[in-house]
Amino acid sequence: MKIGKIGRNDPCPCGSGLKYKKCCMKREKADLTETYFKRYGIRLKGKQDVEKIKEAGKLAIATLLKVRDILTVGMKTEEIDRVVHEYIVSHGGVPAPLNYRGFPKSVCVSVNEEICHGIPGERIIMDGDIVNVDVTPILNGYYADASMTFFVGNPALDAIKVVNVARESLKRGMKAVKPGARIGDIGWSIQEYAESQGCSVVREFVGHGVGFEFHEPPQVPHYGTKGKGIMLIPGMVFTIEPMINLGKKELRVLDDNWTAVTKDGSLSAQFEQTVLVTKDGFESLTPYDIDDTSLFYPPSSK
Ligand code: MF3
Ligand code: CO
Ligand code: CO
Repeated sequence: MKIGKIGRNDPCPCGSGLKYKKCCMKREKADLTETYFKRYGIRLKGKQDVEKIKEAGKLAIATLLKVRDILTVGMKTEEIDRVVHEYIVSHGGVPAPLNYRGFPKSVCVSVNEEICHGIPGERIIMDGDIVNVDVTPILNGYYADASMTFFVGNPALDAIKVVNVARESLKRGMKAVKPGARIGDIGWSIQEYAESQGCSVVREFVGHGVGFEFHEPPQVPHYGTKGKGIMLIPGMVFTIEPMINLGKKELRVLDDNWTAVTKDGSLSAQFEQTVLVTKDGFESLTPYDIDDTSLFYPPSSK
């Protein structure tokens, strides 16, 4: 038997006479769970936790598609807030953003040069706008976090470009997720690609552990160095949510203390999913087909 490749049903190498899975495999798992919590504050998720996060994830995606269906030129962003609030609550959930660290609404809506954390309000959506909607329902105590950027009306080429780069960035970040890989591999894959397209990656906001709470360790930067950072292991659940600017990476925060906008006024786009590290890769707990661009065009735009 090769050390390091002990089968679940092999006799445990400790000599107990039990199967490995009934003996030291369990202890090794418990040890790793404790190590990850003590060292990094990361709370690994078990099978039942994952099922609950998935349920919250389904609600997150259904909410985003509901928003997609009502998005139209001429509407105020606060109308999106009403729809999101009503949809989540009527499905037994609670919108996590509401009153989170003083955030006053149930959803973040970020238009064009707004990078993230836009507060829904009086802003009117115009023809050709790109609109990121970021939802985080809590369902039965579990959180799932996801966002999409929608085209409203007829997009110009620069809008299509930044949205495409943001989509591909999330895709590449997710592909880097597998046991044994490092957190830095995720950011590296994203940065390498986005910058090769002449876009830039926002530094101030990062992906994050999620599930038991809105924002848990670890932080997941969307830039970084291959091979650096915490090793990914099964049971980790975190978001990947690259914010990609068409121009420079610098941002400023508006007087509302929330809305982050590009300093140079250039367009910014973002897509987010909540992912689970599995034994052979990853699984999205807020799955949607990032290649299916028809998802991101409201019916009013077609
Ligand atoms: N949903 C955002 C994220 O992806 C966080 C929004 S915090 C809020 O992490 F307070 F603005 F809602
Ligand atoms: Co998030
Ligand atoms: Co989010």
